[in-house]
Amino acid sequence: MKHQPTLDGRVAIVTGAGSGIGRATALAMAEAGAHVLGVGRRRSALEETAALHPGIATLAVDVRLEQAPELIIGAAIDRWKQLDVLVNNAGATARVSFHEVTRRRITDLFDLNVVAPTMLAQAAFPHLRRTRGSIVNISSTYGHRPQPGAAHYAASKAAVEQLTRTWALELAGDGVRVNAIAPGPTESEALSMSGLTEEEVARVKKEQAALIPLGRRGRPEEVASWIVRFADPAATWLTGQILTIDGGLELV
Ligand SMILES: NC(=O)c1ccc[n+]([C@@H]2O[C@H](COP(=O)([O-])OP(=O)(O)OC[C@H]3O[C@@H](n4cnc5c(N)ncnc54)[C@H](OP(=O)(O)O)[C@@H]3O)[C@@H](O)[C@H]2O)c1
Repeated sequence: MKHQPTLDGRVAIVTGAGSGIGRATALAMAEAGAHVLGVGRRRSALEETAALHPGIATLAVDVRLEQAPELIIGAAIDRWKQLDVLVNNAGATARVSFHEVTRRRITDLFDLNVVAPTMLAQAAFPHLRRTRGSIVNISSTYGHRPQPGAAHYAASKAAVEQLTRTWALELAGDGVRVNAIAPGPTESEALSMSGLTEEEVARVKKEQAALIPLGRRGRPEEVASWIVRFADPAATWLTGQILTIDGGLELV
């Protein structure tokens, strides 16, 4: 029998919902029937996401703040009284070489890509246990292949993958599934936010497209549809998995 992912009546939190993969995920989840809380720092960007579907509500908060987990989980529970899915998508890339990297750059990156999703997952857990819900973390192809010039970004995503596998075991007894999606180069704001000039961004995009076997960078909705599938309550026996969606880049 054919199964279309449905999140009818489910409640999902998507961090980094103001652009790129997070925006596409918030929309795809709302279209699948979920109530979605989209989180990010820029209110205006979140409002643009919310305008795409009435099922999307937003909360402007920096996920790195100590009080962020309580604020974010509290907002979803106050509104919908339950939580079924946490998508840990907010993250950043940093293109900085071995010779140039600084302590500050590393700790900032790990704070956003590793510490913040951990604290959010921890706060979400009691609610996810109640609904036998799931966590979807967002890694990267470079979470499991080297990326010269961005070693600490790659290392932060490798950490996300190992957290995913380990939490899958730690939370399995409570019926909470934990999986990750590892996208390859995908259209979003990530590159322009990484400190590169416009010319450098254009050059990197061209180089990436040339390297990808399917011949192009990905579109956010091509990643989002798999995030929805992982969150689908019908995926009841899937946990601890990392799915790479990168046009075949992982293979070359
Ligand atoms: N695009 C790619 O090629 C690619 C490839 C592999 C993995 N990924 C991963 O996919 C995820 C989404 O990235 P994207 O490509 O869609 O990039 P993006 O367009 O830059 O999206 C990242 C989102 O995270 C939000 N964000 C950043 N820092 C935040 C903070 N401290 N608190 C709350 N929200 C924050 C940003 O909004 P505000 O600035 O308004 O907060 C932004 O909307 C990231 O984890 C990224 O590492 C992307």
